Amino acid sequence: MDQIVNVDEFQELAKQALPKMYYDFYNGGAEDQHTLKENVLAFRRIMFRPRVLVDVSQIDMSTTILGYPISSPIMIAPTAMHKLAHPEGEIATAKAAAACNTIMIVSFMSTCTIEEVASSCNAVRFLQIYVYKRRDVTAQMVKKAEKAGFKAIVLTVDVPRLGRREADIKNKMISPQLKNFEGLVSTEVRPNEGSGVEAFASSALDASLSWKDIEWLRSITKLPILVKGLLTREDALKAVETGVDGIVVSNHGARQLDYSPATITVLEEVVHVVRGRIPVLLDGGVRRGTDVFKALALGAQAVLIGRPIVYGLAAKGEDGVKKVIEMLKNELEITMALSGCPTIDDITRNHVRTENERLR
Ligand code: FNR
Repeated sequence: MDQIVNVDEFQELAKQALPKMYYDFYNGGAEDQHTLKENVLAFRRIMFRPRVLVDVSQIDMSTTILGYPISSPIMIAPTAMHKLAHPEGEIATAKAAAACNTIMIVSFMSTCTIEEVASSCNAVRFLQIYVYKRRDVTAQMVKKAEKAGFKAIVLTVDVPRLGRREADIKNKMISPQLKNFEGLVSTEVRPNEGSGVEAFASSALDASLSWKDIEWLRSITKLPILVKGLLTREDALKAVETGVDGIVVSNHGARQLDYSPATITVLEEVVHVVRGRIPVLLDGGVRRGTDVFKALALGAQAVLIGRPIVYGLAAKGEDGVKKVIEMLKNELEITMALSGCPTIDDITRNHVRTENERLR
């Protein structure tokens, strides 16, 4: 692993380690995969306005999210089915999160049960949820998460239906039975044609979900609620008005609506209307410490990492996930030093220039 110098290098290792069906599942985006490329490229169009002659002999990357201290603003995004990447599944990822002192958002579609994840380590965990037509199943998971010491619920709102992921359609991607739902919902689909994951999603997900249902979620849990998957100022305002506790600006890693904007290009419009009332997080295309810095400069409190975590897991298990987080942290540290920002609070809007801005 000493040979690996950036997180992108894990992708090739993951490709070698995984059966094609699973690699394609992790890697793919929707349809033309335009947004998939844009999520990454849009970060590259943002340049720095570094400040010099600032004492950067000590760099402190620590921050807090919903009051929970973490070692840096780099968290683990919810991604489905980690056992397809590595036999230890979400347990390995959670142990790496604990070792790196960060927060893991465990997917509703995890392959280990949420109790197994909880008992394997003391990382701060949030549970991501989908709302099924069978609301009782979602409600039961929320209750289990509370009992297992999860600290927040992250409601994913960009999947009324599953996006068209053409590799999964071609590969006839199998949806395995998930232990969390054994005896409640059969998640297993081995399709003759098309994607099994899509077939399961369309049978299970409640496409009627709307803003009023946040009230329902509030009525069944006292945990903070974050909404993940919005991209506009209009929806950000709705989220604040509805009283949620945080927002994740996300296009689901470009797996849902192709030609959605790259997340980093819409972050500011969301931050602008939220006006600091609740935390705004961002995910999609974060592959470098410089990307983390750019997201913070444009107003995010933290970023979530999706695919690189799964690739690290597939290539090297828990150690691979740790290495992904550590590399990003090291890159963020040097970016802060070279930009003249010894602490997270020192990172400001003036430290970056977006492509629409003239040289100021
Ligand atoms: C995801 N994502 C996701 N989101 C969610 O809310 N619940 C889920 O179960 C999943 N599952 C999932 C599986 C895989 C393989 C991927 C790649 C993504 C979306 C995820 O949380 C996040 O929004 C993106 O992955 C962030 O983009 P990057 O970092 O992958 O570019």
